[in-house]
Amino acid sequence: MIIGILKENQNENRVALLPEAAAALIKKKAEVIIEKGAGERAYSSDQAYMDVGVQLGTHDEVLNKATVLVQISSPTEELIQKLREDQTLLSILNPLANTALVDKLLTRKLTTFSLDSIPRTSRAQAMDILSSQATAAGYRAVLDAAMHLPTFFPMFMTAAGTIPPAKVLILGAGVAGLQAIATAKRLGAKVEAFDVRAAVKEEVESLGASFVEVEGAKDEAAAGGYAVEQTEEYKKKQQQAVHDHAVKSNVVICTAQIPGRKAPTLVYEDTVKHMLPGAVIVDLAASSGGNCELTEDNKTVHKEGVTIIGKSDYPSTIAVDSSKMLGKNIVNFLTLLIDEEGGLNLNFQDDIVQGTCITHQGEVYNERVKTVMNQN
Ligand code: NAI
Repeated sequence: MIIGILKENQNENRVALLPEAAAALIKKKAEVIIEKGAGERAYSSDQAYMDVGVQLGTHDEVLNKATVLVQISSPTEELIQKLREDQTLLSILNPLANTALVDKLLTRKLTTFSLDSIPRTSRAQAMDILSSQATAAGYRAVLDAAMHLPTFFPMFMTAAGTIPPAKVLILGAGVAGLQAIATAKRLGAKVEAFDVRAAVKEEVESLGASFVEVEGAKDEAAAGGYAVEQTEEYKKKQQQAVHDHAVKSNVVICTAQIPGRKAPTLVYEDTVKHMLPGAVIVDLAASSGGNCELTEDNKTVHKEGVTIIGKSDYPSTIAVDSSKMLGKNIVNFLTLLIDEEGGLNLNFQDDIVQGTCITHQGEVYNERVKTVMNQN
């Protein structure tokens, strides 16, 4: 098969496959072709790709030649129209939230796989782009908060006086939250974390942070490790607990998400009003509605003396390492689709292939997407 790497949209610095990832696929007997300049913003030149045996082409040449196309950004209307039924697209489609896009892919009878739909099983861990990219996001969010904070993160005991450590509250202790805890601890902050999933308490504490407990959460193992919608009574208790801890914090990092739904509101306007002057909120859930009521997506705003950063695309700001991790995930996934001769083999008996496939021959394959589409 021929794997085509498409150039990303102008807001995306990452590239789906760096030269090292392309080389790994060539070793598996696949051919790889890349659109000119696609790796530039991740500091990989066309020459670096050619050095490992990748062919170079224009956008249309890549589109015409490739059997499988990889692109991080979800496809534009134009790309959807240009793709052929015999081609396979591997992208990040956010299908649970973007059902209109799924409809278009169905109409065109395209075969599509969404990398954010890879099942969360042990076998699929090495392919999990949500985890690898959340690692980058959690790390970078804390650095951004530190840069905006008018005080230090670590404690300083100097001849000019003692500076207390910054207090950091992390909301949501999934992959991004845990990385945020580790990064804030490395910078010397005093860290607390809150999550609806009581199971993460141990992990939070093992990183040196304290866990904010709110009793009575629904923690459904059936949701594949994800959080579920909570009762109104629990939400009230949670709101009070978050308020009490946020008003004493210099930094709040928001990472709480529920797949396919609006992110839960955890920091209300009244809480922001009572926060310390100069405090910083970084809201990683901004693109799905935000955890803070005052967050504006893709904007840094100053409200009630607090800086609120609404940013969900931190991985793109660490383009090299984010692409490196993403590429490794993609190679591991593509390995399931490549046969011994380097040909394409769509084995829908494999739960990872089946679960990651969004559309094929005019049908929805992923079960959760199917349910959401039927509800609409
Ligand atoms: P996520 O990005 O969907 O959510 C982030 C965190 O926010 C989660 O820990 C969630 O419990 C929390 N959250 C949701 N609603 C909340 C609320 N109202 N208040 C406070 N916290 C709230 O989650 P992420 O980081 O992608 O992964 C969640 C879990 O999935 C992991 O911790 C792990 O158990 C599992 N997982 C499994 C993988 C595998 O087996 N391949 C790979 C990655 C994650």
